[in-house]
Amino acid sequence: MRDRPVVGIFGAGKVGTALARLLLASGHRVLIAGSPRQTALSLVVDVVAPGAEVATPEALVEASDVVILAVPFGKVATVPWPLFDGRVVVDATNYWPPIDGNLPQVDDDPRSTSEINAARNPAAHVVKSLNHLGYHDMEDDSMPAGSRLRRALAVVGDDDHARHVLAAIIDAIGFDPVDGGALSHGVALEPGHPAFGQALSAAELGVLLTPVAGDRDAA
Ligand SMILES: NC(=O)c1ccc[n+]([C@@H]2O[C@H](COP(=O)([O-])OP(=O)(O)OC[C@H]3O[C@@H](n4cnc5c(N)ncnc54)[C@H](OP(=O)(O)O)[C@@H]3O)[C@@H](O)[C@H]2O)c1
Repeated sequence: MRDRPVVGIFGAGKVGTALARLLLASGHRVLIAGSPRQTALSLVVDVVAPGAEVATPEALVEASDVVILAVPFGKVATVPWPLFDGRVVVDATNYWPPIDGNLPQVDDDPRSTSEINAARNPAAHVVKSLNHLGYHDMEDDSMPAGSRLRRALAVVGDDDHARHVLAAIIDAIGFDPVDGGALSHGVALEPGHPAFGQALSAAELGVLLTPVAGDRDAA
């Protein structure tokens, strides 16, 4: 489908390849860039996400309308933030101490982890999404529009157009998008917060994303 945005994914692990399969199945062109230390990536991608195109980071950013970060939170600095000017960048990462280690500067930072990431390039249009469901649920829970039990996924970000673009992608891959407004509202989607890992309807998720004055954890 020519009207589908081209999606580039950083990270060919569990999340990156599950998203690649969903995106390909819904008619998107998908490029994928792996870890610098990953070998035989083309072979892996041919097997686990056939149809996705392996690309260098530079080629991926150049060709993609939307870039998804599906790398460990602790490695977010290794993606090419300076190339993201004006790009829709989807932060699917979670700060996960068993993987990332304990990072005191993050523990002590009141911002959502996506605000911390977005500060790496203020010219990027960062949205937080796709982080609050397990990779194993991505394909299992995908359902056609209108299905009674269709699961909702949130989109938060400070750029209206970026949220709109990602909402259309979420619908295309089989979930009901919920526009949660500002990037700061994404705290509710993070590990240890109410929406994380929960299979919710759009109405249920929308309530959790409604900011409550004076309570940033409820925002
Ligand atoms: N697992 C889940 O169910 C789930 C669900 C939602 C969100 N998330 C979040 O999504 C992110 C990915 O999770 P995952 O489970 O897919 O992890 P994963 O299976 O470990 O995959 C991440 C991949 O990204 C690679 N990588 C590291 N730096 C990179 C770079 N600069 N460019 C391209 N690839 C790079 C890693 O390679 P190296 O091994 O060489 O670092 C690894 O192959 C994490 O932040 C996680 O918290 C996970």
